Amino acid sequence: MWRPSERIRYEAGPGRAPDAEEASRSRLFSPLREGRLSLAQRSWVPAMVPWRATEDGFVSGDVLAWYERFALGRPGAIVVEATGVRDVPSGPLLRIGHDRYVEGLSRLVETVRRASGGQTRLFIQLIDFLAIRRRPEPATYFARFLSLTDAHRRAVGAEGLPEHEVRARLFALGPEGWKAALTTREHESLSHGYRERVTDTHLDHIRDLPKALPELFASAARRAETAGFDGVELHYAHAYTMASFLSRANTRLDGYGGPLPDRLRSPLEVYAATRAAVASPFVVGCRFLAEECVPGGNDLSETPEIAVAFANAGMDFLSTSRGGKFEDAKQPAINSAAYPYTGPSGYECMPQFISDARGPFGRNAEPTKAIREAVRAAGRRTPIVCSGGVHNFEMAERWLAEGVCDIVGAARQSLADPDWALKIALGRGDEVRTCEYTNYCEALDQKHKPVTCQLWDRLDLDGSDGKRRLVAPPWRR
Ligand SMILES: Cc1cc2nc3c(=O)[nH]c(=O)nc-3n(C[C@H](O)[C@H](O)[C@H](O)COP(=O)(O)O)c2cc1C
Ligand code: SF4
Repeated sequence: MWRPSERIRYEAGPGRAPDAEEASRSRLFSPLREGRLSLAQRSWVPAMVPWRATEDGFVSGDVLAWYERFALGRPGAIVVEATGVRDVPSGPLLRIGHDRYVEGLSRLVETVRRASGGQTRLFIQLIDFLAIRRRPEPATYFARFLSLTDAHRRAVGAEGLPEHEVRARLFALGPEGWKAALTTREHESLSHGYRERVTDTHLDHIRDLPKALPELFASAARRAETAGFDGVELHYAHAYTMASFLSRANTRLDGYGGPLPDRLRSPLEVYAATRAAVASPFVVGCRFLAEECVPGGNDLSETPEIAVAFANAGMDFLSTSRGGKFEDAKQPAINSAAYPYTGPSGYECMPQFISDARGPFGRNAEPTKAIREAVRAAGRRTPIVCSGGVHNFEMAERWLAEGVCDIVGAARQSLADPDWALKIALGRGDEVRTCEYTNYCEALDQKHKPVTCQLWDRLDLDGSDGKRRLVAPPWRR
């Protein structure tokens, strides 16, 4: 197993910025052309959900403005936020599960093309997720949600009693008694809210996921192609369905769980169906976890093999993230749902300034380097994208020079300043607004509120209502 030989620390702040001539010779601003993927430069805006779609999942004017603002900074690529492949209600998250979404998505493509002068490649992240419910009031849980079993009746000595009496007695047991009377899973539904898993094969729709998923993703990719996107990023990361298939926690016994080749099966079948559904130039890559960062979760003893399997299958890029799991998420408040970025693995995904000895920046760099080396050793040139704490030119350039990745993803830095790479390219790096990693933006995401950055102006500067702007302020060159 690969082990990091040294812990590289990266400094906070803007770092040294090059002049325009040095920038033009840099790796960051060199083009990339590998297989179907071609980028004018190696800066990449990873997917970020801004909570701006309409309630029924359509592209809104605010969504257009959000991506237009990133495109004005002309990064090599933008990945549009996680977009649901099913046509099911999911609040103001974008959807691509029906042809009626194509028109709005086409407008999004046109907007980005125009704003970036055609310089930015545009991909859309395709996501499937399983059901999750809010943490219930205990009284409601016992009165309505708990499915009564003989074990519950026995636990409260109420074998012959009517159902409402059994429920009342269970509720009266109180927190300590609940632990003894409920199964672990039932107790989790009470304390954190009900959450489906890919291992719930007693449920028909979960058992049948491997049959349903390929067509769901393939149809979504076909719609993305019709809308004019350059490609799709299959979301195989964090806490969602495809990452759960890949995870060591997937113990399904139907050939889609357990040993790694079986855990890879559904993700590879989804990829194969997606690839087959689109024309040759259309890019199909994925985002997956270099490390799950939960006890017993996927780590570098397997993830390089996962990357090699994806590269061998023909994926056009591999983008790594880390952590972001439900397994170690904090207990949500009553009437709120668990959020996979609140525990230690969530910290690994989006580390903020308050950190451990290792510091918040570049925690994904060494694992991604190991993954890239494995892919290259397998004879594949598949471009690798790495994200996590990139906030200045020096750090981006160092990753490229040291073989961490071929493309540098910067999510929060691009939010703080969508023009950051453009400013550096023009030799005006001293004008970059550097992300402070306070995770103000991520807290809004957690509350499902429109994401903004604390460094952006407030509108009351213009005599308005004191709210922050919905897009980053313009950069006047
Ligand atoms: C507001 C917000 C929304 C995010 N939404 C997504 C998402 O839709 N899909 C995804 O793969 N990652 C998402 N992420 C994670 C980022 O893509 C990125 O991996 C993470 O922020 C670490 O990179 P950074 O340090 O450059 O911000 C989100 C991050 C933020 C801050
Ligand atoms: S809100 Fe904070 S962490 Fe988020 S992009 Fe802005 S400065 Fe960075």
